[in-house]
Amino acid sequence: MRKLLMAQDLGDLNKAVQEALEIKKNRYAYKKLGENKTLLCVFFNNSLRTRLSTQKAGMNLGMNTMVLDVNQGAWKLETERGVVMDGDKSEHLLEAIPVMASFCDVIGVRSFARFENKEFDYQETILNQFIKYSGKPVFSMESATAHPLQAFADLITIEEYKKKERPKVVMTWAPHPRALPQAVPNSFADFMNEANVDFVITHPKGYELSEKFVRNAKVEYDQDKALEGADFVYAKNWSAYQDPNYGQILSKDMSWTVSTEKMALTNNAYFMHCLPVRRNMIVTDDVIESPQSLVIPEAANREISAETVIKRILESL
Ligand code: CP
Repeated sequence: MRKLLMAQDLGDLNKAVQEALEIKKNRYAYKKLGENKTLLCVFFNNSLRTRLSTQKAGMNLGMNTMVLDVNQGAWKLETERGVVMDGDKSEHLLEAIPVMASFCDVIGVRSFARFENKEFDYQETILNQFIKYSGKPVFSMESATAHPLQAFADLITIEEYKKKERPKVVMTWAPHPRALPQAVPNSFADFMNEANVDFVITHPKGYELSEKFVRNAKVEYDQDKALEGADFVYAKNWSAYQDPNYGQILSKDMSWTVSTEKMALTNNAYFMHCLPVRRNMIVTDDVIESPQSLVIPEAANREISAETVIKRILESL
């Protein structure tokens, strides 16, 4: 395995989940695999879960781990070719990438969508520059369009908690004060489309996601109808994907907040969210604190999804 961006990079998803569950039983079983290998995690954006879980996964595998916060202590990086660098950016990514790569064996990259240029974002320009110029395996730690380590952890969590062979999983948009990327819902849709679940997406009109990720998923604009009989409710905000509103907030309709009343429409569903979450915008205190809330075990599974991916990468070196 040389890269992770889409579910298909993991091959057979069921096998990947089973492998992850085996790793979870003994997360230090592959401690020798990463001996004298170095993992570099490069962050262009903030993180709590990804930062800690990915480093922990690398350490479980016996790796040395390094974190670079590009915006704190490193030179400010230019990312576009052809720019006359007479501003505040001292170094170009095209030199920085091979230099970073010379100190490590595997690279994780966090680089969110910028919402300045949809093509730049959806071509995964930053991640692909790392793939092209590092010569090292590269995995997304949430890049412009996808967050596969999160979606893989979500799928592992669903596998652990499901009470029927093919549960109904509903991903619902919910309000948020800031414009957020589509990476998490994109990847969740990508993974659910490949999983043995009955998958429904619900959002207000105008929030349609990219066809590349939605594929054949059912889209239901009536949230109450979508939630009927759900076994898992996955809440997330995202900004508009479709032109001419790319990256914009179209609604802050609080009737979409996941509340006890909304959860009562479901089949006693589990509540999921990738975190961080804005309480009483996305989800009420009551729901996130209820016994049906999986947000903590879901976050804890980020260690396992990262370990499974990095293990596979190490095996391919
Ligand atoms: N879910 C997630 O990726 O969390 P962080 O942004 O804190 O890493």
